[in-house]
Amino acid sequence: MSEPLEIDVITIFPGMLRGFLDASMLGRAAANGLAVVRTINLRDFTEDVHRTTDDRPYGGGPGMVMKPEPLFKAVESVRRPESRVVLMTPQGEPFTQRRAESLSRKRHLIFVCGHYEGVDERVRESLITDEISIGDYVLTNGALAATVVVDAVVRLVPGVLGGEGATEDESFSQGLLEYPQYTRPTRFRGMDVPEILKSGNHAEVDRWRRKQAAERTRLRRPDLITKDVQERENQHGCTG
Ligand code: ADE
Repeated sequence: MSEPLEIDVITIFPGMLRGFLDASMLGRAAANGLAVVRTINLRDFTEDVHRTTDDRPYGGGPGMVMKPEPLFKAVESVRRPESRVVLMTPQGEPFTQRRAESLSRKRHLIFVCGHYEGVDERVRESLITDEISIGDYVLTNGALAATVVVDAVVRLVPGVLGGEGATEDESFSQGLLEYPQYTRPTRFRGMDVPEILKSGNHAEVDRWRRKQAAERTRLRRPDLITKDVQERENQHGCTG
């Protein structure tokens, strides 16, 4: 069996992640040796009695900044040559399914969760390899953002979803939103399952689903289609 994906999350709120991680499919991924998620309490790397992780910004201004010393020590306690050190920040690259796929193929991820107004710039300059944002809004707590990314990444590790999961058809994985899904009963409160899905004709079902996915994406997220076309053009070396 291949080596598990290892993830270390550095935060001042380790308990917040643990509850979620242990209760979800991530608990099973760990039990099956597919992915291991550890939390690291940043305060364990402080040296003063108050276990201080933040301080006032040079130059003044509101809010607090995360101090460099505990963050350097915490990262260096687990970092290996192949580690990716990911800072969760609203200034980062927007998180996408593609990014989740790429991170799921790495060996070791270290997430640094920002809190307060941000981290000392020297952390960013010399420790961080990747910066990720989960959306254009500001959370008080980077641990929440890291949990979102860890969930999206770990479910893509082969074997984690077991029988539940073909991930190739779901929303975003082909650059489109997913087609509509139905299950039993065939008639519910006067609403019927489309005949084509009950026909047993797989080619027709595929065609219907592709059309529905394209139509749904066109209506709800036309930006995804533009992006997809642009990416394909870039891949094929078109310049126009
Ligand atoms: N920390 C605070 N807000 C965030 C966001 N939108 N994405 C990632 N980390 C964050």
